Amino acid sequence: MPTIDDITPGPVWTTLAALVLLAAWWHSLRRVLPKMTPKRRNWMMCWTYAGFLFVLELSRPLAADEPSGRRFLLKLLILFAWALLIAIVYNIIYKNKPKMRKKIVAGNWKMNTLPAEGAELAKGVVAGRGTVCSCVDFIVCPPFTHLSTVAEALKGSDIALGAQNCAAEEKGAYTGEVSAAMIAALGCKYVILGHSERRQYYGETSATLNKKMTQAYANGLMPIYCVGENLDEREAGKHFDVVKAQIEEVVYNLTAEQFKNLVIAYEPVWAIGTGKTATAEQAQEIHAHIRKVLAAKFGVAAEECAILYGGSCKPSNAAEIFAKEDVDGGLIGGAALKADDFLAIGKGFGK
Ligand code: PGA
Repeated sequence: MPTIDDITPGPVWTTLAALVLLAAWWHSLRRVLPKMTPKRRNWMMCWTYAGFLFVLELSRPLAADEPSGRRFLLKLLILFAWALLIAIVYNIIYKNKPKMRKKIVAGNWKMNTLPAEGAELAKGVVAGRGTVCSCVDFIVCPPFTHLSTVAEALKGSDIALGAQNCAAEEKGAYTGEVSAAMIAALGCKYVILGHSERRQYYGETSATLNKKMTQAYANGLMPIYCVGENLDEREAGKHFDVVKAQIEEVVYNLTAEQFKNLVIAYEPVWAIGTGKTATAEQAQEIHAHIRKVLAAKFGVAAEECAILYGGSCKPSNAAEIFAKEDVDGGLIGGAALKADDFLAIGKGFGK
Protein backbone atom coordinates (compact mmCIF):
# COMPACT_ATOMS: atom_id res chain seq x y z
CA MET A 1 0.00 0.00 0.00
CA PRO A 2 1.69 3.28 -1.07
CA THR A 3 1.92 5.93 1.64
CA ILE A 4 0.95 9.51 1.16
CA ASP A 5 4.62 10.36 0.85
CA ASP A 6 4.91 8.08 -2.14
CA ILE A 7 2.06 9.66 -4.09
CA THR A 8 2.42 13.36 -3.31
CA PRO A 9 5.18 15.73 -4.30
CA GLY A 10 6.89 17.94 -1.76
CA PRO A 11 5.29 21.13 -0.41
CA VAL A 12 7.01 23.39 -2.94
CA TRP A 13 5.73 21.39 -5.88
CA THR A 14 2.30 21.10 -4.34
CA THR A 15 2.13 24.86 -3.85
CA LEU A 16 3.29 25.49 -7.39
CA ALA A 17 0.80 23.02 -8.81
CA ALA A 18 -1.98 24.63 -6.76
CA LEU A 19 -1.05 28.05 -8.14
CA VAL A 20 -1.02 26.77 -11.71
CA LEU A 21 -4.43 25.17 -11.19
CA LEU A 22 -5.73 28.38 -9.64
CA ALA A 23 -4.53 30.41 -12.63
CA ALA A 24 -6.02 27.92 -15.10
CA TRP A 25 -9.31 27.99 -13.19
CA TRP A 26 -9.41 31.77 -13.25
CA HIS A 27 -8.66 31.78 -16.96
CA SER A 28 -11.44 29.28 -17.72
CA LEU A 29 -13.86 31.14 -15.52
CA ARG A 30 -13.21 34.46 -17.27
CA ARG A 31 -13.94 32.86 -20.62
CA VAL A 32 -17.21 31.31 -19.62
CA LEU A 33 -18.79 33.76 -17.16
CA PRO A 34 -19.71 36.44 -19.71
CA LYS A 35 -21.74 33.83 -21.57
CA MET A 36 -23.87 32.85 -18.59
CA THR A 37 -27.03 34.22 -17.03
CA PRO A 38 -26.74 34.98 -13.28
CA LYS A 39 -28.89 31.91 -12.58
CA ARG A 40 -26.56 29.62 -14.51
CA ARG A 41 -23.55 31.17 -12.81
CA ASN A 42 -25.10 30.32 -9.45
CA TRP A 43 -25.59 26.74 -10.58
CA MET A 44 -21.98 26.49 -11.61
CA MET A 45 -20.88 27.81 -8.22
CA CYS A 46 -23.19 25.30 -6.52
CA TRP A 47 -21.54 22.42 -8.38
CA THR A 48 -18.15 23.77 -7.44
CA TYR A 49 -19.01 24.09 -3.73
CA ALA A 50 -20.81 20.76 -3.60
CA GLY A 51 -17.72 19.17 -5.09
CA PHE A 52 -15.55 20.90 -2.50
CA LEU A 53 -17.47 19.32 0.35
CA PHE A 54 -17.43 15.93 -1.30
CA VAL A 55 -13.74 16.10 -2.12
CA LEU A 56 -12.85 17.31 1.38
CA GLU A 57 -14.79 14.48 2.89
CA LEU A 58 -13.11 11.92 0.64
CA SER A 59 -9.64 13.24 1.27
CA ARG A 60 -10.02 13.15 5.06
CA PRO A 61 -8.74 9.60 5.66
CA LEU A 62 -6.21 9.90 2.83
CA ALA A 63 -4.16 12.57 4.54
CA ALA A 64 -5.14 11.90 8.14
CA ASP A 65 -1.66 11.07 9.38
CA GLU A 66 0.08 13.89 7.50
CA PRO A 67 1.35 17.02 9.25
CA SER A 68 -1.35 19.67 9.09
CA GLY A 69 0.58 21.99 6.73
CA ARG A 70 1.02 19.26 4.17
CA ARG A 71 -2.58 18.17 4.53
CA PHE A 72 -3.75 21.70 3.90
CA LEU A 73 -1.69 22.03 0.71
CA LEU A 74 -2.83 18.69 -0.57
CA LYS A 75 -6.47 19.53 -0.03
CA LEU A 76 -6.03 22.90 -1.66
CA LEU A 77 -4.59 21.18 -4.69
CA ILE A 78 -7.54 18.83 -4.93
CA LEU A 79 -10.04 21.67 -4.50
CA PHE A 80 -8.48 23.75 -7.25
CA ALA A 81 -8.38 20.72 -9.52
CA TRP A 82 -12.07 20.16 -8.92
CA ALA A 83 -12.96 23.82 -9.55
CA LEU A 84 -10.93 23.73 -12.75
CA LEU A 85 -12.67 20.58 -13.89
CA ILE A 86 -16.10 22.19 -13.45
CA ALA A 87 -14.97 25.34 -15.27
CA ILE A 88 -13.62 23.26 -18.16
CA VAL A 89 -16.86 21.30 -18.44
CA TYR A 90 -18.80 24.59 -18.58
CA ASN A 91 -16.37 25.93 -21.16
CA ILE A 92 -17.09 22.93 -23.35
CA ILE A 93 -20.86 23.31 -22.93
CA TYR A 94 -20.74 27.04 -23.73
CA LYS A 95 -18.07 26.81 -26.42
CA ASN A 96 -20.19 28.11 -29.27
CA LYS A 97 -22.49 30.35 -27.28
CA PRO A 98 -22.16 34.13 -27.69
CA LYS A 99 -21.42 36.35 -24.71
CA MET A 100 -24.41 37.69 -22.80
CA ARG A 101 -25.22 41.09 -24.12
CA LYS A 102 -24.75 44.10 -21.92
CA LYS A 103 -27.87 45.79 -20.55
CA ILE A 104 -27.38 49.50 -21.03
CA VAL A 105 -29.30 52.58 -20.03
CA ALA A 106 -27.69 55.68 -21.54
CA GLY A 107 -28.83 59.22 -20.86
CA ASN A 108 -28.56 61.73 -23.68
CA TRP A 109 -28.96 65.09 -21.96
CA LYS A 110 -28.85 66.96 -25.29
CA MET A 111 -28.50 70.75 -24.84
CA ASN A 112 -30.00 70.78 -21.35
CA THR A 113 -28.85 71.79 -17.87
CA LEU A 114 -26.15 74.23 -16.80
CA PRO A 115 -22.92 72.74 -15.43
CA ALA A 116 -23.98 72.97 -11.77
CA GLU A 117 -27.36 71.43 -12.58
CA GLY A 118 -25.63 68.69 -14.52
CA ALA A 119 -23.40 67.92 -11.54
CA GLU A 120 -26.49 67.72 -9.30
CA LEU A 121 -28.22 65.41 -11.75
CA ALA A 122 -25.18 63.14 -11.94
CA LYS A 123 -24.92 63.07 -8.14
CA GLY A 124 -28.58 62.08 -7.97
CA VAL A 125 -27.94 59.19 -10.33
CA VAL A 126 -24.90 58.10 -8.31
CA ALA A 127 -26.88 58.31 -5.06
CA GLY A 128 -29.64 56.04 -6.36
CA ARG A 129 -27.49 53.70 -8.40
CA GLY A 130 -27.48 51.07 -5.67
CA THR A 131 -31.24 50.62 -6.06
CA VAL A 132 -30.80 49.19 -9.57
CA CYS A 133 -29.25 45.83 -10.45
CA SER A 134 -25.51 46.08 -10.97
CA CYS A 135 -26.11 44.03 -14.15
CA VAL A 136 -27.32 47.25 -15.81
CA ASP A 137 -24.64 49.58 -17.19
CA PHE A 138 -25.52 53.26 -16.84
CA ILE A 139 -24.00 55.92 -19.08
CA VAL A 140 -24.61 59.66 -18.90
CA CYS A 141 -23.88 61.92 -21.86
CA PRO A 142 -23.93 65.56 -20.78
CA PRO A 143 -23.03 68.54 -22.98
CA PHE A 144 -19.28 69.01 -23.63
CA THR A 145 -19.14 71.91 -21.19
CA HIS A 146 -20.10 69.69 -18.25
CA LEU A 147 -17.90 66.71 -18.93
CA SER A 148 -15.28 67.57 -16.30
CA THR A 149 -17.78 68.47 -13.61
CA VAL A 150 -19.89 65.42 -14.27
CA ALA A 151 -16.80 63.18 -14.41
CA GLU A 152 -15.97 64.47 -10.93
CA ALA A 153 -19.51 63.75 -9.70
CA LEU A 154 -19.35 60.20 -11.08
CA LYS A 155 -16.00 59.40 -9.46
CA GLY A 156 -16.07 56.21 -7.42
CA SER A 157 -19.25 54.99 -9.11
CA ASP A 158 -19.63 52.52 -11.97
CA ILE A 159 -21.57 55.02 -14.09
CA ALA A 160 -19.78 55.71 -17.35
CA LEU A 161 -19.39 59.06 -19.03
CA GLY A 162 -20.14 59.69 -22.69
CA ALA A 163 -20.19 62.66 -25.03
CA GLN A 164 -22.94 63.49 -27.50
CA ASN A 165 -20.68 64.03 -30.49
CA CYS A 166 -17.07 64.44 -31.56
CA ALA A 167 -15.28 66.09 -34.44
CA ALA A 168 -14.60 64.27 -37.69
CA GLU A 169 -11.01 65.53 -37.75
CA GLU A 170 -8.17 64.78 -35.42
CA LYS A 171 -7.19 68.39 -34.56
CA GLY A 172 -6.39 71.74 -36.11
CA ALA A 173 -8.23 74.75 -37.48
CA TYR A 174 -11.82 73.63 -36.94
CA THR A 175 -13.33 76.45 -34.93
CA GLY A 176 -15.92 75.33 -32.43
CA GLU A 177 -15.24 71.62 -32.81
CA VAL A 178 -14.34 69.23 -30.00
CA SER A 179 -12.10 66.32 -30.84
CA ALA A 180 -12.42 62.70 -29.78
CA ALA A 181 -9.05 62.99 -28.02
CA MET A 182 -10.36 65.91 -25.96
CA ILE A 183 -13.43 64.10 -24.73
CA ALA A 184 -11.44 60.93 -24.06
CA ALA A 185 -9.01 63.00 -21.99
CA LEU A 186 -11.94 64.18 -19.86
CA GLY A 187 -12.84 60.62 -18.96
CA CYS A 188 -15.39 59.71 -21.63
CA LYS A 189 -15.73 56.07 -22.47
CA TYR A 190 -18.55 56.47 -25.00
CA VAL A 191 -19.58 58.89 -27.71
CA ILE A 192 -22.99 59.13 -29.35
CA LEU A 193 -22.60 59.33 -33.13
CA GLY A 194 -25.16 59.80 -35.86
CA HIS A 195 -28.01 60.96 -33.67
CA SER A 196 -30.94 61.93 -35.89
CA GLU A 197 -30.78 65.51 -34.59
CA ARG A 198 -27.20 65.73 -35.83
CA ARG A 199 -28.12 64.17 -39.14
CA GLN A 200 -31.14 66.45 -39.54
CA TYR A 201 -29.92 69.84 -38.20
CA TYR A 202 -26.19 69.60 -38.83
CA GLY A 203 -26.17 67.69 -42.08
CA GLU A 204 -24.24 64.69 -40.83
CA THR A 205 -23.92 62.11 -43.53
CA SER A 206 -22.47 58.63 -43.60
CA ALA A 207 -19.25 60.15 -44.98
CA THR A 208 -18.90 62.41 -41.91
CA LEU A 209 -19.85 59.60 -39.60
CA ASN A 210 -17.22 57.28 -41.01
CA LYS A 211 -14.59 59.86 -40.11
CA LYS A 212 -16.05 60.37 -36.64
CA MET A 213 -16.04 56.63 -36.05
CA THR A 214 -12.38 56.50 -37.00
CA GLN A 215 -11.61 59.29 -34.54
CA ALA A 216 -13.64 57.66 -31.79
CA TYR A 217 -11.84 54.32 -32.12
CA ALA A 218 -8.45 55.94 -32.47
CA ASN A 219 -9.03 57.48 -29.05
CA GLY A 220 -10.37 54.39 -27.33
CA LEU A 221 -14.01 55.54 -27.27
CA MET A 222 -16.97 53.24 -27.79
CA PRO A 223 -19.41 54.74 -30.27
CA ILE A 224 -23.14 54.56 -29.64
CA TYR A 225 -24.15 54.67 -33.28
CA CYS A 226 -27.73 55.85 -33.88
CA VAL A 227 -29.96 54.74 -36.70
CA GLY A 228 -33.64 55.27 -37.36
CA GLU A 229 -36.23 56.30 -39.90
CA ASN A 230 -38.43 59.38 -40.03
CA LEU A 231 -42.21 59.36 -40.13
CA ASP A 232 -42.51 59.48 -43.94
CA GLU A 233 -40.11 56.59 -44.30
CA ARG A 234 -42.01 54.56 -41.71
CA GLU A 235 -45.33 55.28 -43.36
CA ALA A 236 -43.93 54.31 -46.75
CA GLY A 237 -42.74 51.02 -45.24
CA LYS A 238 -39.10 51.91 -45.92
CA HIS A 239 -37.84 51.71 -42.35
CA PHE A 240 -36.08 48.38 -42.80
CA ASP A 241 -34.16 49.66 -45.81
CA VAL A 242 -33.31 52.97 -44.16
CA VAL A 243 -31.65 51.42 -41.12
CA LYS A 244 -29.98 48.80 -43.28
CA ALA A 245 -28.36 51.51 -45.38
CA GLN A 246 -27.33 53.50 -42.28
CA ILE A 247 -25.58 50.40 -41.00
CA GLU A 248 -24.05 49.28 -44.27
CA GLU A 249 -22.64 52.71 -45.05
CA VAL A 250 -20.91 53.11 -41.68
CA VAL A 251 -20.80 50.02 -39.47
CA TYR A 252 -19.76 47.74 -42.34
CA ASN A 253 -16.54 49.72 -42.59
CA LEU A 254 -15.47 48.68 -39.09
CA THR A 255 -13.03 45.90 -38.39
CA ALA A 256 -14.23 42.88 -36.44
CA GLU A 257 -12.25 44.17 -33.46
CA GLN A 258 -13.86 47.62 -33.63
CA PHE A 259 -17.30 46.08 -33.99
CA LYS A 260 -16.84 44.39 -30.61
CA ASN A 261 -16.76 47.85 -29.09
CA LEU A 262 -19.86 49.24 -30.70
CA VAL A 263 -23.30 49.96 -29.31
CA ILE A 264 -26.19 50.58 -31.69
CA ALA A 265 -29.18 52.75 -30.82
CA TYR A 266 -32.33 52.41 -32.87
CA GLU A 267 -34.27 55.64 -32.59
CA PRO A 268 -37.27 56.16 -34.82
CA VAL A 269 -37.21 59.90 -35.49
CA TRP A 270 -40.99 60.13 -35.12
CA ALA A 271 -40.71 58.90 -31.54
CA ILE A 272 -37.95 61.25 -30.36
CA GLY A 273 -39.20 63.85 -27.92
CA THR A 274 -42.73 63.48 -29.30
CA GLY A 275 -44.21 61.33 -26.56
CA LYS A 276 -44.97 58.71 -29.23
CA THR A 277 -43.17 55.47 -28.59
CA ALA A 278 -42.70 52.55 -30.91
CA THR A 279 -44.62 49.61 -29.53
CA ALA A 280 -42.54 46.87 -27.99
CA GLU A 281 -43.40 44.71 -31.00
CA GLN A 282 -42.27 47.39 -33.47
CA ALA A 283 -39.03 47.78 -31.54
CA GLN A 284 -38.38 44.04 -31.47
CA GLU A 285 -39.14 43.67 -35.16
CA ILE A 286 -36.63 46.26 -36.24
CA HIS A 287 -34.01 45.36 -33.62
CA ALA A 288 -34.09 41.77 -34.91
CA HIS A 289 -33.72 43.15 -38.43
CA ILE A 290 -30.72 45.25 -37.36
CA ARG A 291 -29.11 42.23 -35.77
CA LYS A 292 -29.61 40.29 -39.00
CA VAL A 293 -27.99 43.08 -41.01
CA LEU A 294 -25.07 43.10 -38.55
CA ALA A 295 -24.77 39.31 -38.69
CA ALA A 296 -24.52 39.39 -42.48
CA LYS A 297 -21.19 41.18 -42.04
CA PHE A 298 -19.92 40.24 -38.59
CA GLY A 299 -21.42 36.77 -38.10
CA VAL A 300 -21.98 35.50 -34.59
CA ALA A 301 -20.45 38.67 -33.07
CA ALA A 302 -23.76 40.37 -33.94
CA GLU A 303 -25.29 38.34 -31.12
CA GLU A 304 -23.05 40.16 -28.66
CA CYS A 305 -23.76 43.69 -29.87
CA ALA A 306 -26.04 45.73 -27.60
CA ILE A 307 -28.88 47.39 -29.51
CA LEU A 308 -30.66 50.11 -27.54
CA TYR A 309 -34.08 51.57 -28.18
CA GLY A 310 -34.55 55.34 -28.04
CA GLY A 311 -37.57 57.58 -28.46
CA SER A 312 -39.83 58.66 -25.60
CA CYS A 313 -38.64 55.79 -23.46
CA LYS A 314 -39.74 56.34 -19.86
CA PRO A 315 -40.28 54.42 -16.62
CA SER A 316 -43.82 53.47 -17.62
CA ASN A 317 -42.88 51.79 -20.90
CA ALA A 318 -39.27 50.69 -20.40
CA ALA A 319 -40.03 47.29 -18.88
CA GLU A 320 -42.27 46.24 -21.75
CA ILE A 321 -39.77 47.32 -24.40
CA PHE A 322 -36.71 45.93 -22.59
CA ALA A 323 -38.45 42.57 -22.18
CA LYS A 324 -38.08 41.99 -25.91
CA GLU A 325 -35.40 39.57 -27.00
CA ASP A 326 -33.35 41.93 -29.14
CA VAL A 327 -33.73 45.10 -27.07
CA ASP A 328 -30.72 45.50 -24.80
CA GLY A 329 -31.57 48.80 -23.17
CA GLY A 330 -32.38 52.38 -23.99
CA LEU A 331 -30.96 55.69 -25.13
CA ILE A 332 -32.96 58.10 -23.05
CA GLY A 333 -33.49 61.80 -23.75
CA GLY A 334 -36.14 63.66 -21.75
CA ALA A 335 -36.46 61.08 -18.99
CA ALA A 336 -32.69 61.16 -18.38
CA LEU A 337 -33.00 64.67 -16.98
CA LYS A 338 -34.54 63.43 -13.74
CA ALA A 339 -32.35 61.08 -11.74
CA ASP A 340 -35.31 59.13 -10.38
CA ASP A 341 -36.85 58.55 -13.80
CA PHE A 342 -33.53 57.61 -15.31
CA LEU A 343 -32.88 55.07 -12.57
CA ALA A 344 -36.45 53.77 -12.74
CA ILE A 345 -35.87 53.00 -16.42
CA GLY A 346 -32.91 50.85 -15.37
CA LYS A 347 -35.30 48.92 -13.15
CA GLY A 348 -37.23 48.00 -16.28
CA PHE A 349 -34.93 45.05 -16.88
CA GLY A 350 -36.73 42.00 -15.68
CA LYS A 351 -34.98 39.49 -17.84
P1 PGA B 1 -36.34 61.19 -26.00
O1 PGA B 1 -34.97 61.28 -26.80
O2 PGA B 1 -36.19 60.08 -25.00
O3 PGA B 1 -36.53 62.52 -25.37
O4 PGA B 1 -37.42 60.88 -26.99
C1 PGA B 1 -34.21 60.15 -27.11
C2 PGA B 1 -32.99 60.56 -27.91
O5 PGA B 1 -33.10 61.41 -28.78
O6 PGA B 1 -31.89 60.03 -27.70
